[in-house]
Amino acid sequence: MCGIVGYIGSNQAAPFLIEGLTKLEYRGYDSAGIAVLNDQIICVEKTVGRLAALEEKIEGKTPEGCIGIGHTRWATHGRPSDTNSHPHTDCHGDFAVVHNGIIENYMELKEDLISKGHVFKSETDTEVLPHLLEELYNGDFEASVREVLKRVEGSYAIVFMSKKDPDKLICTKQDNPLVIGLGDGENFVASDIPAIISRTRRTYIVNDGELAVVKKDSVWITNSLGEPVTKKVFEVNWNAEAAEKGGYEHFMLKEIHEQPKAVRDTLSSRINKDNSAVVLEELGWTEEYVNSFSKVFIVACGTAYHAGLVGKYYIERMARVPVEVDIASEFRYRQPIIDDNTLTIVVSQSGETIDTLAALKEAKRLGSKTLAVTNVVGSSIAREADQVIYTWAGPEIAVASTKAYTTQLIVMFLLGAYMAGLRGTVAPRRMKELLTMLRNIPAQISETLEDVEPIKVFAKKYGFNNDVFFIGRALDYEVALEGSLKLKEISYIHAEAYAAGELKHGTLALITQGVPVVALATQKSVYDKTLSNIKEVKARDAVVIGIAATGDTELEKYADHVIFVPRTDELLIPLLAVLPLQLLSYYTAITRGADVDKPRNLAKSVTVE
Ligand code: F6R
Repeated sequence: MCGIVGYIGSNQAAPFLIEGLTKLEYRGYDSAGIAVLNDQIICVEKTVGRLAALEEKIEGKTPEGCIGIGHTRWATHGRPSDTNSHPHTDCHGDFAVVHNGIIENYMELKEDLISKGHVFKSETDTEVLPHLLEELYNGDFEASVREVLKRVEGSYAIVFMSKKDPDKLICTKQDNPLVIGLGDGENFVASDIPAIISRTRRTYIVNDGELAVVKKDSVWITNSLGEPVTKKVFEVNWNAEAAEKGGYEHFMLKEIHEQPKAVRDTLSSRINKDNSAVVLEELGWTEEYVNSFSKVFIVACGTAYHAGLVGKYYIERMARVPVEVDIASEFRYRQPIIDDNTLTIVVSQSGETIDTLAALKEAKRLGSKTLAVTNVVGSSIAREADQVIYTWAGPEIAVASTKAYTTQLIVMFLLGAYMAGLRGTVAPRRMKELLTMLRNIPAQISETLEDVEPIKVFAKKYGFNNDVFFIGRALDYEVALEGSLKLKEISYIHAEAYAAGELKHGTLALITQGVPVVALATQKSVYDKTLSNIKEVKARDAVVIGIAATGDTELEKYADHVIFVPRTDELLIPLLAVLPLQLLSYYTAITRGADVDKPRNLAKSVTVE
């Protein structure tokens, strides 16, 4: 995820900028840069690669000046490259900007600015910001920044620096973190607390829509209407390790709670304004091209494979194209029937999983068209596939995948709806209904994550059982598979997911008194059937923890406990139903004293067959 730092004071800015960015390295990045203002010149130094490469580049010629901004970039719009790295400047080098997040309407802004003569150097969405500021500058830095913000849609944390106002930095945020560190005769700006805690523990946490004018001996904060905001100083008492985790005990928990933002980012700019169609500019498919697919394969490993299973539902139900889902390590050796009318979609958070990469190469060799769904720009899988759709989840650090899974579901849904739009297989009214509900998912994820207390209680109560079963039908079954994998990998409990209707064909023999069964019953179309299967396990004295949509009054009659998730369409509810399962596995691992972020025998990126 991108990192931001800024400095203004009486000392040299560059040493702090590099030091602060180093403290944000753990978040992952692919390029780095700084801009320092001195004597009416903004000096920008940036490079693709590690911070060490930037340090090497500036060795012996470190830009001098007491005001500056810095950035580590995790590519979203535009590959990792020197030019795409931040900071970005306008045509005349009067303004420099660093930005985290996504400017959703950057294409239209860019076209307009180009028509007015602005020359862009990068492929990024961010570069519209300095050009827009140059275009709108009216002699008043702060007022001009406000004019820029009026025209920008999306999520962001931004720091602006101006040659014409060398005594201030201006920063603002929307849906991305931003903090101001208060020093003595100097002040700091950062996207995250670890960047500044070696310098100060006194901070202002900036809220959405607020704008801060940061000078070396003052910080002036206003709301979106320009009215002054009185801030309380937040004294950071976390140690460096806790600060990296944003105050959460583990990266996994932090990443679970990052899902509203990760999902919002992944959706951003991919649904049109009136929610009537999906926009996937990166694909640019035509009706003829989509109609040429006789079959789609989705190939992946682990959690990404589980996302693929949900993807099958989405593509088949909406676009009416047959889909087969394969485990990558099996696909490669089973001589799949592929021709040039086949589309193979590979799903991989890291983009480096060797089984998935090998399957992708095999599909290509056999003549398939290929599409990668990945979280890492420029990864091996992204480079190898014909086309790529990125999940914009930001780096996932915990071994157990959480926000990568939900953002993969989002991309699979968008893809299904996109294909359906081109094939005309979903009625316009239904499409609008689905996309309107999809837009509401980030808020519903936040709502679901608000109340974790009951889940903590279940984790304590059942955390020492040796076996747990997860059951469900249709999409509930695919989510059950992911829930059981999560529990296995971090708590080391034997967990099995079963299609609820399949249990009676053998596995029911294992359901005895007190065995916990997590039963998902969110799928309206198979609800009664699922309920019958729940009654079957209850009749064997299992302890049933049900997952249902709010308003369900039936399940409570048969389950010992019910966790409710907000109501939405049954196609979208996996995005919510998986959340209690992620939390349940997390708190169970805590109950058992397991090392949540680094479970035994596992690696984050599996680069061996
Ligand atoms: C489980 C998990 C793994 C990965 C799998 C594929 O929590 O993280 O099952 O999903 O190793 O990894 P990627 O998606 O990087 O290809």
